[in-house]
Amino acid sequence: MCGIIGIVDKKNCINDLISSLSRLEYRGYDSAGIATLNKNKFVLNKSKGKLSNLRLKIKQKKIMGNIGIGHTRWATHGKPSNDNAHPFLKKNCAIVHNGIIENYSDIKKSLANHKTNYQSSTDTEVVAELMNYLIEEGASPLESMKEITSRIEGNYALVFLVKSSNNLYFSRKGSPLVVGISKTFKCVASDTLALPNKVDNIIYLEEGDIGEIGLDRANIFDRSFNLKENQIHKHSSMQEHTTKRNFKHFMIKEIHYQSKSIDDTLLNFAKKNDEKIYLPQFKFDTKKIDNLSLVACGTAFHACMVSKYWFEEISKINTMVEIASEYRYRENSINKKTLGILVSQSGETMDTIKCLEKMKKQKIHTASIVNVLGSSLSRNSDYIFPTIAGPEIGVASTKAFTAQLTVLALLSLHIAQKKSVIDNKLKKITNEMFKISKNVNSIMKDKKIYMEIAKDLLDSKSIFYVGRGTMYPLALEGALKLKEITYKHCEGYAAGELKHGPLALIEDSVPVIVLAPFDKYFKKTMSNIQEIKARGGEIILITDSEGSKNSENLADKLICLPKSNFITAPIIYSIPVQLIAYYLATLLGTDVDQPRNLAKSVTVE
Ligand code: G6P
Repeated sequence: MCGIIGIVDKKNCINDLISSLSRLEYRGYDSAGIATLNKNKFVLNKSKGKLSNLRLKIKQKKIMGNIGIGHTRWATHGKPSNDNAHPFLKKNCAIVHNGIIENYSDIKKSLANHKTNYQSSTDTEVVAELMNYLIEEGASPLESMKEITSRIEGNYALVFLVKSSNNLYFSRKGSPLVVGISKTFKCVASDTLALPNKVDNIIYLEEGDIGEIGLDRANIFDRSFNLKENQIHKHSSMQEHTTKRNFKHFMIKEIHYQSKSIDDTLLNFAKKNDEKIYLPQFKFDTKKIDNLSLVACGTAFHACMVSKYWFEEISKINTMVEIASEYRYRENSINKKTLGILVSQSGETMDTIKCLEKMKKQKIHTASIVNVLGSSLSRNSDYIFPTIAGPEIGVASTKAFTAQLTVLALLSLHIAQKKSVIDNKLKKITNEMFKISKNVNSIMKDKKIYMEIAKDLLDSKSIFYVGRGTMYPLALEGALKLKEITYKHCEGYAAGELKHGPLALIEDSVPVIVLAPFDKYFKKTMSNIQEIKARGGEIILITDSEGSKNSENLADKLICLPKSNFITAPIIYSIPVQLIAYYLATLLGTDVDQPRNLAKSVTVE
């Protein structure tokens, strides 16, 4: 899928253009190019194949320019070649484009009486000729953009470099664009990951927006050409992630950060009030995939387990989930209709990498969900769906987990849409997902209750987490978090499975943390609570207001969370689970960020 970067800087922008393009490589591409304006002269460089070819070309030429655009192309109209690579250069402008211009031949015909010079077989070059013509006719760049967007049909993110102008001009419809702002610098990109590190703030463009950025401006207009007041989002630098600031531990900082990382991950792939998910596109027909094989380790494995419920219920697709160290040595019945999905924060976990190698030998399509771009998994799988959580320092995974859940939820919606099994519910569901960050913040405001629960658990020799549906894998994750950082024995169980063994361990005052939003499983979970109570177990119930009303006073302690649904619940319920482990570990005085015997990235078998 194509990638776009456009930069206006006080300094030479070539290095930033190229490093942004390298961060876009994960989307898949077959050629790359940049165009800059130096002393009012365009300089164009493009190369078929890998970015290293373009790098080499540029190195030999010593190119300059404070303003420029760059593109990685994934061929749609016209084969991969130098001619078809973007940007396209005309006398008055240069253009990069993501998407497809459906009526390009009509536009081409409408320009038939004017001087044009087509060099490629792309739909994009027609838009470049149109812009060139409009400017020649005396229209300003912004007027031209307005005219262009009224004439073209299809999906697009367009960015123009215009002769005699110090600004970049752009518009989006059906393809994402974000604007990055800092005091000395402005940029526009198809993806937050492409933004240079020095960006302080971000504006996410909405459907139909037209804009211009220059050193002194960032003006965005809506489709009726009214100047908009934009919602500004903070962009986190690498340093922001690698310093503790005022927090005692990285883990609690990362728990706090989740309202932002969940939103950043969502905003990278979806928009409020939109009917589409903007994940990198598969080159195969999604309808031809009839089963998924998800593989991961540790916390990432629990994210996969949650997603099985989504994939099977929302996307109606058979889903197998397996621990990587098991998958790699087992005979399995994968077939050509399987999509292999590897999930990993680091992208370097040896067992997961070996599973990718096995899948590649089996010649199935592979996709990875990783937090570290450029990691081994991301380099070697066919498709990459990044989590936008920023570097995670605490060994016990928190913000990467909820970002993995966010991407997996979006992927399940995306597949459901491709398979036409979701009707018109997608907008409603994604809008609900955009409320998660608010809910996370409201949970974080009331941390006292988790400290109290941690105090209650202090002397317990053994603790249980139980849940049904997506709350079952979350119970496993809750138990893992506790084990990892408090060194206490804790078991996660499917609530309905207790009676098949672990109930024998329940006696007076054994704490059982029950994860139970008021959903279709709630009543069944209540019956399991009765079984625990009857044996003297102490119930800590985590539910919502409806659940609390219907809990028949069975809970010894009750935590009331905001209302959630099938998709948002496991993300929202992750927060209390993490906080309980964190506060218990701080009371016990363990090494929260670097627990004994564990490593952040496990690169051995
Ligand atoms: C280690 C970490 C866990 C993590 C697991 C998988 O065991 O301590 O927190 O969940 O590796 O790591 P990955 O980077 O593949 O997600």
